[in-house]
Amino acid sequence: MPPKPVIIDTDPGQDDAFAILLALATPELDVLGLTTVAGNMGLAQTTDNARRIVELAGRGDTPVYAGAPRPLMRAPRPVPEIHGDTGIDGWDWAPAAQPPETGHAVDFIINTVSSHSGPVTLIALGPQTNIALALRRAPEIAAQIDRIVFMGGGFFEGGNMSPAAEYNILVDPEAARIVLGSGIPITAVPLDCTHKAPAPLGWSQTLADHGTPVMRACAGMMEFFERYGNAKYGTATRPLHDAIAVSALLWPELFDGRHCPVDIECAGELTTGMTVVDWLRQTGKPDNCLWLNACHDPAEVYARMGAALARL
Ligand code: RIB
Ligand code: CA
Repeated sequence: MPPKPVIIDTDPGQDDAFAILLALATPELDVLGLTTVAGNMGLAQTTDNARRIVELAGRGDTPVYAGAPRPLMRAPRPVPEIHGDTGIDGWDWAPAAQPPETGHAVDFIINTVSSHSGPVTLIALGPQTNIALALRRAPEIAAQIDRIVFMGGGFFEGGNMSPAAEYNILVDPEAARIVLGSGIPITAVPLDCTHKAPAPLGWSQTLADHGTPVMRACAGMMEFFERYGNAKYGTATRPLHDAIAVSALLWPELFDGRHCPVDIECAGELTTGMTVVDWLRQTGKPDNCLWLNACHDPAEVYARMGAALARL
């Protein structure tokens, strides 16, 4: 099989970093480029982080395009308390040697999808602002998008930024509603799935023992990333949400879920940003995504992830 062409839209974030490194380490994927968005950190920071990550992987040739500096309708909501002041705290990152590309992320998505020899898969790891803008600006590209795989949402698990809403969706619920209404095949990787795939206990030491710069950086990021979540949830380890989304694309046999109708609450006093999952199909609306809510073998997911990262 030829490698699957993908564009990764991202707001690095330690778990975004793992997802990007995993994708770059996987020959089955052809990473056409990264597009960055305001999310975990401001746009300048997420863009600089994306450059640092591709260069750490030895893939400085991977183009990075900066996108939306804020959500469609709402104020940005950076979370340095989770990801640190750089957004990828846990490692002493070398400054990026190359700047991002001069074009806009939305133009890159539209032009790349329109001109590529075959359908392109979009992997969305942050607020879906860029993808919504691309679909609004050039709705015809939907026919050339093979699938959108996004990390976001939560239904059975509730939210992680409010009782009802997960961070990526809460930051830009209007964008998520546009994406879910696009008619494009979608795989949603929500907290219902990622919370079933925590990292193995002591995994950061396993990574560090490899000794390569990538693995030492991942070990440091993992340790930093787990601090906030373990304190909040009273757990011993945390899931790398965005890396689980890439894993679900690579190894679908390790995950499970259900095709069903999903919509986004955009006006609820208490529930804005909620992914309203019609699991029992009570609304009569058409299924618009595959909603993953199970991981059969978390240990296998992280074993495969670690083996891939060790190749960089
Ligand atoms: O809720 C987890 C998601 O929000 C992840 O994508 C993380 O990077 C943050 O963006
Ligand atoms: Ca993210």
